[in-house]
Amino acid sequence: MIDKQYILVLDYGSQYNQLIVRRIREMNVYAILEHHDMDFSKLKDDKNLKGIVLSGGPNSVYEEGAFTIDESIFELGVPILGVCYGMQLISQKLGGQVVPGSVKEFGKTEIVVDALDTSVLFNGTAKEQITWMSHMDKVISIPSGFVKVAHSDNTEFVAIENKDKNIYGIQFHPEVTHSQYGFKILENFVNLCDVTEKWTMENIVDTLVQDIRDKVGSDQVILALSGGVDSSVVAYLLEKAIPNQLTCVFVDHGLLRKDEAQNVVDMFSHMKLNLIVKNEQDLFFSKLKGLTDPEAKRKAIGNTFIEVFDNVASTIKDAKWLAQGTIYADVIESGTKTAQTIKSHHNVGGLPEDMQFKLIEPLRELFKDEVRKLGLVLGMPEKMVYRQPFPGPGLGIRVMNEVTKENVKILQDVDAIVREEILEDNDRIGAWQYFAVLLNGVKSVGVVGDQRQYGEVVAVRAVSSIDGMSADFCDINHQKLATISTRIINEVPGVSRVVYDITSKPPGTIEWE
Ligand code: XMP
Repeated sequence: MIDKQYILVLDYGSQYNQLIVRRIREMNVYAILEHHDMDFSKLKDDKNLKGIVLSGGPNSVYEEGAFTIDESIFELGVPILGVCYGMQLISQKLGGQVVPGSVKEFGKTEIVVDALDTSVLFNGTAKEQITWMSHMDKVISIPSGFVKVAHSDNTEFVAIENKDKNIYGIQFHPEVTHSQYGFKILENFVNLCDVTEKWTMENIVDTLVQDIRDKVGSDQVILALSGGVDSSVVAYLLEKAIPNQLTCVFVDHGLLRKDEAQNVVDMFSHMKLNLIVKNEQDLFFSKLKGLTDPEAKRKAIGNTFIEVFDNVASTIKDAKWLAQGTIYADVIESGTKTAQTIKSHHNVGGLPEDMQFKLIEPLRELFKDEVRKLGLVLGMPEKMVYRQPFPGPGLGIRVMNEVTKENVKILQDVDAIVREEILEDNDRIGAWQYFAVLLNGVKSVGVVGDQRQYGEVVAVRAVSSIDGMSADFCDINHQKLATISTRIINEVPGVSRVVYDITSKPPGTIEWE
């Protein structure tokens, strides 16, 4: 955790929890997500703690074994906001009553703010407003010292406040865009928290640099440089912090995009970076032989990465640390104790337990957009900062089923066409990530020349997103799709059909595997 004033968001398992953290950070205030059964005793003397949000969650507060709270937090003297489950928990713990509701209030719900004139949280909002609800249980009596602030048709206590104690509760989710005044309400809460240190990337560079220096001392650090935004920002940061103690290793695992290995080397040629390029394509392909399960492929690639690093490291004196570009979304998506694992990310999931390095992950606390801003602050060229994300396991998870050198070559050629065409029109298309997937194993009939042949099927994927946590497929016009399709069929032998993926996230994921 970074040594700055912060607001603590306690995670009770709602899928929206990290959005609360994001929204607060967007107000230039540092916030972190912690598991609800964290060690509360350390909060008492934590001068940096400025406020607490108890998040939503799917459970019922009255159930046996329900996620709970250490009541000492109510004595800490910092403002507390309970959202949904969090409000129910506050009510129950302080003497109110929570019961199962007879109807589920879900989705956009109109509420009436009864105490608009006096409410701190609703200051600057409207008497009637739309909120996003997702609850069945409800508070039917509020603890003494609290006043009712808002209600809806189904719920008497939609918002409650105890101004003397600085404790607040709202039944809806202010963090989602569907809540009309949600951000304003969160901002009103954040303003109560008396945070004087601004959370901006300019302000945290020095802290990050100092942390790195303190951690590694005079040891040597190896960085797995992939050329992606995250590891590139780590390279810039480490170069600033410990310029003579860094060796970057770029592993060409054969699963990169067309010409990428050379592009990455070129990209860093203006820096005096100590860069070792390791071509290990054959090793990776041999490890992937026969593997079809996506997670097995991810693990194989991750483990082989580490093997390669071990070998390189043995040639570097005093190399004790492995730096990684893990970011906050990787940490959260790989499974907190309350949220389920969606898929293991290479950065987090693929590491063997007996790894001989200590890990240093300086971006572990940052969201993707923050990483980009940090890159700019560190002087990275915009072209690098705004590169589209590329997964660690590379084309290994974009070739369905078994990955071979031959089918990766096909995908590289297809993918290059997709990227070239979309990039040309991306101001209009607005794609955040765009690429091709080889549906290896699905053959389709086509006529090439006068010959009927069974060729490969490829899918084009282009999504708009802010951080990859949710995404919409892009509206590419038919003319552009036709150009992409015609070029692929004409230019890449062996491909006979092109499809466009029209799945958003959720329910889909961005990658196919
Ligand atoms: P999904 O497919 O989970 O992707 O919607 C979200 C973002 O994460 C990237 N991604 C990965 N990145 N290792 C990575 O380093 C992985 O195993 C991995 N899987 C997905 C994906 O490209 C998208 O940007």
